[in-house]
Amino acid sequence: MQPAPNLVLIGFMASGKSTVGKRSARRLGLPFCDSDALVEQAAGRTVAEIFRHEGEAAFRERETAAIEALSARGPLVLSTGGGAPMNPRNAAILRDTGVVVLLWAEPEAILARVGDPASRPLLASAHDPAARVRELLAVRAPVYRSVAHAVVDTTELTLPAVVDRVLAAYRAGAELFRERRELCADAAPQASS
Ligand code: S3P
Repeated sequence: MQPAPNLVLIGFMASGKSTVGKRSARRLGLPFCDSDALVEQAAGRTVAEIFRHEGEAAFRERETAAIEALSARGPLVLSTGGGAPMNPRNAAILRDTGVVVLLWAEPEAILARVGDPASRPLLASAHDPAARVRELLAVRAPVYRSVAHAVVDTTELTLPAVVDRVLAAYRAGAELFRERRELCADAAPQASS
């Protein structure tokens, strides 16, 4: 039997990917992984340190390596860094191996949840962190939506309600994955004996 697809959570920083991912993993009985955590483990540095000492481009390379490694280890629940879906290679790997759910939140909700912008490498140097969040979201939102199989707007939902919706989206998406794999298996040429 084919393994179940991964549940992949994408979305802007502070959209709740790790918290929702851990709860969803528990409900599904799957391991939870976080691409930023693997990047940190592989580099022996925090994400903030990688940005500071190696630059963003080096971080993005490390992020792709982590996404490749984790996506192949499924089935699991994978929480990705907010910039990960912007790289088409990451997006293709995530969509091929998992049901991709976007956790959306309006900029005001993001700003309230981010807390101290100094703790976020992409906001730390911003003159106006609120404007930076809006700019980044404006660029990223269409890409996030094009990469996601499903979208959950978390702006006004409680955590348990978000998890319920994510799991419903995963189950519906997993069924489509199964059907697609069966179709592909039917269409594959039979090995000659
Ligand atoms: C980033 C988001 C961060 C982390 C890095 C870059 C981004 O992850 O990957 O600081 O580009 O939005 P979270 O989304 O988990 O905060």
